[in-house]
Amino acid sequence: MVALPMKVLVTGGLGFIGSNFIRHLVSARPGWTIVNLDKQTYAGNPKNLAGLKVKTVKKDICDPKAVDAAMKGADYVVHFAAETHVDRSILDASAFIQTNVIGTQVLLDAALRHGVKRFLHVSTDEVYGSVATGHSVETDKLEPNSPYAASKAASDLLVRSYFVTHKAPVLTTRASNNYGPYQYPEKALPLMITNFMEDKPFPMYGDGRQVRDWLHAVDHARAILLVLEKGSLGEIYNVGGSFDCENRELISKVLSLMGKPSTLITPVEDRKGHDRRYALDCSKLLKLGFKHAYDFEKGLAETIEWYRKNEAWWRPLKVAGGYRTYLKKAYKK
Ligand code: NAD
Ligand code: TYD
Repeated sequence: MVALPMKVLVTGGLGFIGSNFIRHLVSARPGWTIVNLDKQTYAGNPKNLAGLKVKTVKKDICDPKAVDAAMKGADYVVHFAAETHVDRSILDASAFIQTNVIGTQVLLDAALRHGVKRFLHVSTDEVYGSVATGHSVETDKLEPNSPYAASKAASDLLVRSYFVTHKAPVLTTRASNNYGPYQYPEKALPLMITNFMEDKPFPMYGDGRQVRDWLHAVDHARAILLVLEKGSLGEIYNVGGSFDCENRELISKVLSLMGKPSTLITPVEDRKGHDRRYALDCSKLLKLGFKHAYDFEKGLAETIEWYRKNEAWWRPLKVAGGYRTYLKKAYKK
């Protein structure tokens, strides 16, 4: 079946996953029109969309006028824009509440006014909180533990309420930890890879036995497009990866792929409220027909290679003043 040409408003398309999604959309749905609404915070980087013919509007999702102008004529909205780093939310939660909660409300109201056909809200497994055993299903209660996770849970509940109250045509995806190209080097994997490239240590929080599930950003993009086109309105879909492990195992894998010594692992004080384990049951997504394109071994090796080849992308980010100030605050002990 040939997909009809659609106009899509993407929010947060200059970020890590949003830019991977736009790149996937451009090749998977070449006739579609894409508008990207992005405030270009420290995490938004125009280089992430280099070479793609996509209109980016540099505005805040909390600004109703800017949102109205960008949403004009949109059939679909795919909402990535957010403050996303747990450690930053521990230092100061205010931007998280503003963008993740208020921004989502502004977008939902605009989606109703503009009569968009489908609004996909991109969320996270962190809303379920730490799961000691088993796997989270979409109907599980929400127990967010970090201010980041709480702001995302609040936005998920807003999305749900607009479906119940206003019959808004919404869908929500909840993904696990993403990895791949264009990830800002404050998150664990790109921080690790780029530090190891410079023979610098990686600060491992606590005992390193926290478990995360790893999803390639391109697989995330593929799942989002599938849910956007085939998902049932009002439903939530978990999007897990192809591999889960303890952080210390992940670090060892990266060290071994890069040929670096284990002396580069530096245990540091644990993150406050650090969730021990995330794990997703993805039966609902698989029933929709999803199959992973990446296995973790291949994806990780390719990701390391990408950072090796794209030093010109990450090095300026790591020497920028704002990044260094953040590191000092976050890792002061
Ligand atoms: P990111 O931090 O790399 O990018 C966020 C983007 O949003 C940036 O381009 C930034 O400029 C933009 N933005 C921030 N505030 C804005 C505002 N007020 N108005 C307009 N634009 C704004 O984030 P990411 O890792 O690509 O995550 C994208 C989405 O996926 C988020 O909603 C996040 O909660 C969700 N998610 C991320 C992961 C992960 O592992 N990174 C996992 C599951 C879900
Ligand atoms: P992160 O990439 O921040 O994702 P999240 O906290 O959203 O899962 O971190 C992934 C894991 O790595 C998490 O358990 C925290 C840990 N971590 C470290 O051990 N050291 C670090 O410097 C960072 C940033 C993360």
